[in-house]
Amino acid sequence: MAITGAARLAGIMGWPIAHSRSPALHGFWLHEHGIDGAYVPLAVAPDRLEQALRALPALGFRGCNITIPHKRAALRIMDRVDPFAQRIGAMNTVIVAPDGGLEGSNTDVFGFRENLREQAPGWRASCGPAVVLGAGGAARSVVAALSTAGVAEIRLVNRTRDRAEALARDLAAPETRITVHPWEQRNEVLAAAGLLANTTSLGMENEPPLEINLAPLPETAVVVDIVYVPLETGLLAAARRRGNPVVDGLGMLLHQGRPGFAAWFGAEPQVTPALRRAMLATFAGAH
Ligand code: ATR
Repeated sequence: MAITGAARLAGIMGWPIAHSRSPALHGFWLHEHGIDGAYVPLAVAPDRLEQALRALPALGFRGCNITIPHKRAALRIMDRVDPFAQRIGAMNTVIVAPDGGLEGSNTDVFGFRENLREQAPGWRASCGPAVVLGAGGAARSVVAALSTAGVAEIRLVNRTRDRAEALARDLAAPETRITVHPWEQRNEVLAAAGLLANTTSLGMENEPPLEINLAPLPETAVVVDIVYVPLETGLLAAARRRGNPVVDGLGMLLHQGRPGFAAWFGAEPQVTPALRRAMLATFAGAH
């Protein structure tokens, strides 16, 4: 859709940014809602992040998303940060307030929760302990989502133990016990679990496969992969074969975009089969 001189502006800052799917996502919604607006990729090097963020109000931007590698660094540049994003230690959404102040929040947590709700409607926090593989930025959002959903025990498994310990410390909550386990124990910790989430890059296209033996995992446990290229990872395929409910990673990407879009463009976007098809088509074209 052609934009006018009055178009509302938002975008995504990252480095590099060329592979981001967010412009396609927001572009779909802008078109669907017939909104006079644009959502553009903003290639911002780490040493210019502050300069770029501070320019948003000056340029009339309503805000932006923040992606790799800026999700942590952006926190200290904001004028106000959602307490939740502060605790997680990562943010992905900026809203320019009417006074020109920068407000930071984390919608990855919302994205994970909404995706789980949509693709595994039968899952409950009471289904059992959750196993989370990985301890990077994505793992922080997943752990926060599971903890706020009321999961009583989260078993955190990571190659680098220190990172898992730090995550467990930062996200400690009275309602959730976070235990840390060595990478070598990733099979055993699956026993009696109600959910398994992969937040590592293993299984992603051009990355090594995730080597895991699902035998100890109950067949009722929900298996989530936040990797979405390919959509059906080796983990999800193996889980599906043994009858586990599976949740792919594309939905998290789509749902995390909703709160920002609503704030910047003034309409509540939906995640629909047509949107999923359109996004999958962008992957097909890229490979
Ligand atoms: P993100 O912000 O997307 O989570 P990240 O912070 O780079 O990205 O985290 C990547 C995760 O994948 C980490 O948990 C990483 O483990 P380490 O903390 O030990 O680095 C995990 N990971 C990447 N490659 C791995 C591999 N070959 N084996 C095991 N874990 C791996």
